Amino acid sequence: MSNSLIRVNNLKKSFGGLKAVDIDDLNFKSNELTSIIGPNGAGKTTLFDLISGFQEEDNGEIFYKDKNITKSQPYKIARLGMVRTFQLTKVFDRMTVLENLMFAGSSISNDSLLQSIMKLSKQKKYEELLQEEAINVMKDLNIEQMSSSYARELSGGQKKLLELGRSIIKKPDVLLLDEPLAGVNPKLAEDLLEIIQNLSNQGITILMVEHNIEAVMKISERVVVLAEGALIADGAPQEVRENQKVIEAYLGTGDE
Ligand SMILES: Nc1ncnc2c1ncn2[C@@H]1O[C@H](COP(=O)(O)OP(=O)(O)OP(=O)(O)O)[C@@H](O)[C@H]1O
Ligand SMILES: [Mg+2]
Repeated sequence: MSNSLIRVNNLKKSFGGLKAVDIDDLNFKSNELTSIIGPNGAGKTTLFDLISGFQEEDNGEIFYKDKNITKSQPYKIARLGMVRTFQLTKVFDRMTVLENLMFAGSSISNDSLLQSIMKLSKQKKYEELLQEEAINVMKDLNIEQMSSSYARELSGGQKKLLELGRSIIKKPDVLLLDEPLAGVNPKLAEDLLEIIQNLSNQGITILMVEHNIEAVMKISERVVVLAEGALIADGAPQEVRENQKVIEAYLGTGDE
């Protein structure tokens, strides 16, 4: 097995005449916490869409654990252990927090969770196990007190937490987080950062798209910068922060 967990080759995606993503070569290593930054419209979400199978590329290849996943469906990729969150949360408003988590755990389940479930034959046991997992996730996220609240009753920030919980319950090897801190109050943002850091410490590989540069600088081991679909910088946080191309990309758009 090669050193890289995710490998992107000559990846291109356009919308109309606009190049949303155009990346020659990009690798992500196991266990690394990488942030992907760049001005609005740089192609960050599209890159996630392509890697996780939610969009089909015009050109190029994507490998995960040395397996070519270029044409794989999102649910298959998730089952291989790569799980993503969305910039706009996709929690179910009419379900409680507990139900949202159990549903997420049952819908895809990567193989390690499935295997433990397979050993149990009765439906009741399966539900019990799912519920146990959901409670563990709520404990980790400190949202146990919201267990029976409907998702629609949660604040934007709490929905972000729940969205993260819905990914964690799938026991991912890789987490793709699209703006996990957006619209979250400073206190909750700090909590979320700590949770993300803990997940990374537990060995989960994390790719995080985030506009909060302070947060990015604080927890990232590596920062990748996109502008107009292309890779313009890639390196240690401090190095990237001082990169002239990066400074120009941000100033050029009036962003940040
Ligand atoms: N489904 C789509 N149809 C048409 N154009 C799209 C589509 N998705 C993205 N785009 C365009 O592709 C470009 C890249 O968009 P993308 O959402 O990947 O950027 P981003 O870096 O995630 O931006 P932001 O920081 O605002 O979330 C933008 O110009 C956007 O308008
Ligand atoms: Mg985006």
